[in-house]
Amino acid sequence: MCGIVAYIGKKEAFPILIKGLKRLEYRGYDSAGIALLNGQLHVYKKAGKVSDLEEYTKDKSIGATIGMGHTRWATHGVPNDCNAHPHLSHSESIAIIHNGIIENYASLKEELQKRGYVFHSDTDTEVLANLIEEVKKQEKCALEDAVRIALNEVVGAYAIVVMEKNDPDTLIAARKGSPMVLGIGEEEFFIASDASPIIEYTKNVIYLDDKEYAVIKRDGHYTIKTLGNIEKSHAIQKLEMSLEAIEKGGFEHFMLKEIYEQPKVIEDSFRGRMSATDGWIKLGGVSEFSTKIDKAERFIITACGTSYHSGLLAEYLIEELARVPVEVEYASEFRYRNPIINETDVVIAISQSGETADTLAAIEMAKERQALIYGICNVIGSSIARVSHAGSYTHAGPEIGVASTKAFSTQVSILTLLALQIAQSKGTISTSKLRQILYELEHIPEKIEETLQLDGQIRELAAIYKDATNFLYLGRGVNFPVALEGALKLKEISYIHAEGYPAAEMKHGPIALIDEEMPVVFLATNQSAYEKIVSNIQEVKARKGKIIAIVNKGDTQIRNLADHVIEVPETEEVLSPLVTVVPLQLLAYHIAILRGCNVDQPRNLAKSVTVE
Ligand code: F6R
Repeated sequence: MCGIVAYIGKKEAFPILIKGLKRLEYRGYDSAGIALLNGQLHVYKKAGKVSDLEEYTKDKSIGATIGMGHTRWATHGVPNDCNAHPHLSHSESIAIIHNGIIENYASLKEELQKRGYVFHSDTDTEVLANLIEEVKKQEKCALEDAVRIALNEVVGAYAIVVMEKNDPDTLIAARKGSPMVLGIGEEEFFIASDASPIIEYTKNVIYLDDKEYAVIKRDGHYTIKTLGNIEKSHAIQKLEMSLEAIEKGGFEHFMLKEIYEQPKVIEDSFRGRMSATDGWIKLGGVSEFSTKIDKAERFIITACGTSYHSGLLAEYLIEELARVPVEVEYASEFRYRNPIINETDVVIAISQSGETADTLAAIEMAKERQALIYGICNVIGSSIARVSHAGSYTHAGPEIGVASTKAFSTQVSILTLLALQIAQSKGTISTSKLRQILYELEHIPEKIEETLQLDGQIRELAAIYKDATNFLYLGRGVNFPVALEGALKLKEISYIHAEGYPAAEMKHGPIALIDEEMPVVFLATNQSAYEKIVSNIQEVKARKGKIIAIVNKGDTQIRNLADHVIEVPETEEVLSPLVTVVPLQLLAYHIAILRGCNVDQPRNLAKSVTVE
């Protein structure tokens, strides 16, 4: 949510900032801006995309070697030029960019107004700029001290970068609850919300911890301190991400590229973690806690959005295979109720970004109650990965499209391994069944490749239904969460209203919606509930709904009932979501494209939801 980037060094800052903002645009795209310091503070900002800012600034490069940029997802104040970042303090001596929310901004603003400060925007960020200026004036202190003192007065979440007109040799960066990476190059430094703007300049990075700030000097020195003014030393880490991984690689959109990457990343997610031939599974990140995990009397899974859907799927997997009770809860609800967490419970937190504010807060709450936290994250070094006791990375690589695709499938892959690992240690699965599922898992990438060949057929289907105003997605068992995920994909990128339901639950309400205008997507691959789903299809057909059925290859019974069938390769039922979700991702993608929607940057959304 909001992307920030800053540079200090010997190169011209402007192109580095613009390129960095383009890489970070998935984090928010309501407005964008940059500030450059070259004798004067020059601020350029525009409502709209980074490309609008680029057009606006094309003749404005001024040879500055220090600067900052921001791409915004609006929290306080509508997305217009004025509310765009960077913001300047009252005397225009301090510039700031900010990702997060200052919760006590109203009282701080009132106090500052009483002291004569005039505000030009509706943002909480401008309050912080003025607070720093006021502290500096009152305390007659250096910028570093003013930033630290001001941040100690602030309630909320932030990642900020600050620079001062009179000091072209210093950048100050601080974080609490919002991500921030410091890139350390040859006589140059980069600061960003994630590593994507940094990767082509240096692989050496430091991830700032919460309530820390860095003072970065042009001469190559940097100091990291806590907000309590205590110096900290951090080991420099090596980035493993490649530049190709964050580019479109010939695809028209990141979302399509990421859908097509699924065979490879699923393989990456289980590589080295299992062997079908030898019948073993080893999720390395849990080894230290494996006894506790194997002996857990209950799993509580908490997550948001798509990650919540993979959590729902895990409920089926863990209960079916390992026979341990599972509860799944939206992190935003879990964190604010008073849940019963026992010592013998294990809390699993799932998050692609590893930064989702609600999931992070749910973890903190569960940790306070002594729960063991097992985190499943995609972004290496992310906050959730760092606060979890045990964990597994999904290894999906950077997911840039705002609609999550490959992150979902790799989460499901890891959760399947987890369920199997516990089942093996508890003895709730036979060796032959375990090997059979692992063998099938190894072949899932091929089956997804085969499913991707259906792209043309799905595009034709999309052309038929692109003007529908509603969609229903129905599934049973492990394919019920897939129905939810299919509906979420469609609504978030095409703005068509869609609902996912357990197929049998349809009779208890949604059936009233069905008429000849209503496309109903059935996930009809489950062998265990085949006849039941056929009955549900009959019920929709009797009410003239349009039936799109995802079936196993060679299915004839449903072909005779459905208006359209999409035949996918058959696999073990517990693994089928990894295959059945793919046509739903493609359907959502093609419908959105045919409706002229921006699939990579759907309206109102941001990739990483770092505010609650
Ligand atoms: C949907 C989507 C969101 C995220 C949700 C959680 O396509 O991307 O629903 O799944 O915001 O994000 P993470 O997984 O980063 O915690």
